[in-house]
Amino acid sequence: MCGIVGYIGNKQAVNVICDGLEKLEYRGYDSAGVAVVNGDSKVNWAKKQGRLSGLEAVLEQSPIEGTVGIGHTRWATHGAPSDINSHPHLNMSETIAVVHNGIIENYMEIRERLTAEGYVFKSETDTEVAVHLIDKYYEGDLLQAVYKAVAEFRGAYALGVVSSNHPGELVAVRKESPLIVGVGEGEYFIASDVPAILKYTRNVYYLENDEVVYVKDGKIQILDAEQNVVDKELKVVEWDIEAASKGGYDHFMMKEIYDQPQAIRDTLLRRLDENRMIRLDDIKLTKEDLDGIQKMYIVACGTAYHAGLVGKYAIEKLAKVPVEVDIASEFRYSDPFIDEHTLLIVVSQSGETADTLAAMKLAKSKGARVLAITNVVGSSVAREAHDVFYTWAGPEVAVASTKAYTAQMIAFYMIALDFAFKKGTITLERYHELVNNIEALAPLVEEILADKAQIEKMAEDMKDAQNAFYLGRGVDFTTAREAALKLKEISYIYTEAFAAGELKHGPIALIDQGTPVLSIVTQDALQEKMISNIKEVKARGAFVIAIAKKGDTEIAKVADDLFYIPEAEDLLMPVLAVIPTQLISYYVSIARGNDVDKPRNLAKSVTVE
Ligand code: F6R
Repeated sequence: MCGIVGYIGNKQAVNVICDGLEKLEYRGYDSAGVAVVNGDSKVNWAKKQGRLSGLEAVLEQSPIEGTVGIGHTRWATHGAPSDINSHPHLNMSETIAVVHNGIIENYMEIRERLTAEGYVFKSETDTEVAVHLIDKYYEGDLLQAVYKAVAEFRGAYALGVVSSNHPGELVAVRKESPLIVGVGEGEYFIASDVPAILKYTRNVYYLENDEVVYVKDGKIQILDAEQNVVDKELKVVEWDIEAASKGGYDHFMMKEIYDQPQAIRDTLLRRLDENRMIRLDDIKLTKEDLDGIQKMYIVACGTAYHAGLVGKYAIEKLAKVPVEVDIASEFRYSDPFIDEHTLLIVVSQSGETADTLAAMKLAKSKGARVLAITNVVGSSVAREAHDVFYTWAGPEVAVASTKAYTAQMIAFYMIALDFAFKKGTITLERYHELVNNIEALAPLVEEILADKAQIEKMAEDMKDAQNAFYLGRGVDFTTAREAALKLKEISYIYTEAFAAGELKHGPIALIDQGTPVLSIVTQDALQEKMISNIKEVKARGAFVIAIAKKGDTEIAKVADDLFYIPEAEDLLMPVLAVIPTQLISYYVSIARGNDVDKPRNLAKSVTVE
């Protein structure tokens, strides 16, 4: 994620930038920094690990004056949160400063090349290559140097650039990462998101990919990749600041549900090389290491545990290794069988969950290799692990996890594929087929989201329920468990998930007239069995809402209400099937008047046992 802000006008840039960064802290808060040009021979800068207040304290001690500048609030992807890794990054002579949001995928090869040419890197970030490359191409024209540099980047980036040699100029570029331009009276702003500038202006240009903003001597030009001037329409923002920080949605949970296609793309695409092979830079497990592993555990809590259940399914199917999944608080006290031939995979969005951390410390003490899947760079889990897979889902603010869960599932598919390929349990052809099918999930999620009005109507029927049940078989049972957790968590309706085949062994006694039973039916081989189970609960008075694959006409004959989701291969269906269940939970919670983003009794990060 990360947030960037830039200013050029008559006001003190630091004040405008800090105001903007405060509104962008939801995009990241590992560190913050500013760079200002004011006629001095070098760029003036300050940066500090931690929240924006840390930077503001530094700026109070040593104020920086000037009316042109850029700023950044960071959500670490490459390199742990630290002062050195904070943005802005500067060239060696400190005449150029850059802030960046996104990931420059080919930064390693550029870094090696620049290092060989004598450039000295201070940080571990991908961003630092941008400023050195601009420096390399700089021949007196800042804009041309930026054009030449970005032509070499692969990946996603929004960049803001200033130079002490050009105190009246501000350059910004957008590719895949968001960037807007605010237009005031004789002043211009750049920002990752609208809230950053709303205090100053509501007039905005929304940039498209490959567009470049060039402000010089009070005049703005928006240029395309070929440096042609783009004629853009200036839009007026109607949102207030609060709505804007949620991307215009009423709640962070809805915003994060809508972030999911991007989270899928970010987690997958940025790890594909030019041959569409998965590159897991922070996982050093070799074929020999994998061959030596006799036992795999996946350990996590809550939603992350459910992602682990999908992970087991993927790893067993593709890499043909048996995997056990356990809840961290159980695992750590169960005297698990662990030795140096064990791989423990832990999953934690926050990377700070106490039980998950304790489980991995226990496994490490017994010689296991530990791989962490986490969303937070530099978190305790990431630091403790031997190998790390970062889900690049961006900060998750709502207590109920949504986008982190989808990103965790994508992480597992990719790890399973990587293990399978290294172990030789799948063909190259199947590998590529799966990579393509994972990539295809993002637009399918968008398709589901476009149908959300239908789910809102369904939720109306459920809002007064005393209890509700989710049913599924196979990997659909995992989706049912995650769906039930989400519904109980934010609606406070007593909800349970059952393996549909288990109903007759007890749970069916709970079914009464009108009990909502949400049935997930996406697995071809289990569809007939699910239909039988649906008939059983209907015969006892249940109101059945089915979530099934488009084209499944048999389900339509038995369900009282039905939501169709697009078809993907069975292995990947959990990513699609969970989306309508998140929306159901959201709308039921709203209908019951609950605080969706901050449900009662819950905290975002559980750092106690
Ligand atoms: C549910 C939810 C929790 C977390 C669990 C683990 O919506 O968010 O169940 O999944 O507390 O948290 P992390 O992933 O941070 O370890």
